[in-house]
Amino acid sequence: MSLSQITRKFVLICFFVLLWYIISSFYFEQKELLSDKNEETLTEVHLTSPLTLSSNTTITDDDRNPLEELNKKYCGKPTCKFLFVYSLGEQETKANLHFRSFSQLAEKLNRIMILTNVGSSRIGTCNKFPFDFYYNTNLLQKEFPNVLFKSENDFIFWLKERDQIKRKINNNDNKVIPPLSILHSSIKLHHKNTNMKTFYDNAVTNFDKHECISKFEPLMNTKDSNNSRVKYTKLFIRTTDLKTEKSRVKSSELLTKVLTIDEEILLVNGYVIFPLFPQIMPVIPYSDHILNEAQKIKDKLSSSYIGIHWRLERSTPELLPKCVQGLIKTLNKVMKEEGIKNIYLATDYPLLSSRSQSSTFKEITNYHHDAIRTLNETFKINTWVSLGGLEQLRKNDKYNKELSGSGIQGILDKLVCVNSNYFISGPKGCSRSSSFTRAIADKRSNRIKNKDSGLLNIIDRWEIHL
Ligand SMILES: *[C@@H]1O[C@H](CO)[C@@H](O)[C@H](O)[C@H]1NC(C)=O
Ligand SMILES: *[C@@H]1O[C@H](CO)[C@@H](O)[C@H](O)[C@H]1NC(C)=O
Ligand SMILES: *[C@@H]1O[C@H](CO)[C@@H](O)[C@H](O)[C@H]1NC(C)=O
Repeated sequence: MSLSQITRKFVLICFFVLLWYIISSFYFEQKELLSDKNEETLTEVHLTSPLTLSSNTTITDDDRNPLEELNKKYCGKPTCKFLFVYSLGEQETKANLHFRSFSQLAEKLNRIMILTNVGSSRIGTCNKFPFDFYYNTNLLQKEFPNVLFKSENDFIFWLKERDQIKRKINNNDNKVIPPLSILHSSIKLHHKNTNMKTFYDNAVTNFDKHECISKFEPLMNTKDSNNSRVKYTKLFIRTTDLKTEKSRVKSSELLTKVLTIDEEILLVNGYVIFPLFPQIMPVIPYSDHILNEAQKIKDKLSSSYIGIHWRLERSTPELLPKCVQGLIKTLNKVMKEEGIKNIYLATDYPLLSSRSQSSTFKEITNYHHDAIRTLNETFKINTWVSLGGLEQLRKNDKYNKELSGSGIQGILDKLVCVNSNYFISGPKGCSRSSSFTRAIADKRSNRIKNKDSGLLNIIDRWEIHL
């Protein structure tokens, strides 16, 4: 026999073994289901007799609820309880904070925290990239050792398994697996100019529900009562109840109290602006693939560069000619005094396409174009685009939208600025002061405290001469 004949025979044998396995397991499953049904009726009889109730006999084994088995496997408990904050509001730096707040809530409620999708510099289920596209989930897990995190795909897997069990069992006219139980809550800050107090109340059906939730249909269909039973509530919080650490002690207790509920899935549409708990957890670390890009850029700039963050959105356009002169003067000074030759510009000005790098920055005028041109004609300006950052992603059409608007490059810019030897940002009128800039300054301040000798300052704002 030749080698290929042997191989063919072997493959044939494997095939029959597999076939036998599939057929036998199919029958076994059928039998199990049948015996399940029989036991159901049996236990009902037993229930009338108190004597048999106290004996364990074989009941436990055949009584096993397949949904409980799934849950134990998936959640480590007979019931799975999720907190799915599917919309978090605000751009990445603030959304990062809100995700941490809600992870603290998940811990208090003893619920699995779903790792909501990300994209366009936001955290929300409307985006198409998994959470770990932006964040390091392992480090997040270390920060919250008591919280079980699951990706949206894991969540879909659970929904699918549950649905399959439900179909199998409920076909026997035995409605043992109920519809999904869901509480949809809208957790928001009151509008600024209202004296209304914080309150929690029932809400009308579909209240403030985001349409992206429909992407989980048909597995989770909030419109179909056979699929899920949904309750709607709203929690509106007064600004002063979140602003201070002290006020958050009470607010977070209220939040935990009202959301301690039995529903399997807690869907939250959140827009809270401030932290929810007294303690503010450290920033969720970014994915290694972005960190590596930041390191590559640092290497290309010979490890010595001035990082500039210039967010042109909400600058006063007529002021921009003066702004750019002020920046040039400051750059010349720092370069001379500190002996730094390279400049890295992080900006919301469009670099890759005509779209701005911030989703909220829409009106780009000639003042903006002129300012950047003047700067670019005076110095060699490096950006994530000119230095070939995120090259792999740029080759793939899937990321076009992400990279041409605001998105992952904002995180890269942030990291490059954190690493910069000298960091400057614009004064009022020239640049929008943002949580993004503050986040960079905070990180740099920590590094300097930890004796990172490469950093020469925390943050300087350039000056304009009117
Ligand atoms: C029934 O089984 C449980 C768990 O195995 C055990 O703790 C309990 O003592 C048993 N009860 C009786 C009456 O045997
Ligand atoms: C729910 O299921 C019942 C029984 O199978 C069916 O009659 C009813 O039309 C279903 N309701 C919806 C909204 O699909
Ligand atoms: C600066 O000028 C160079 C050369 O003209 C150009 O390739 C680059 O895109 C400009 N950079 C910015 C930030 O506009």
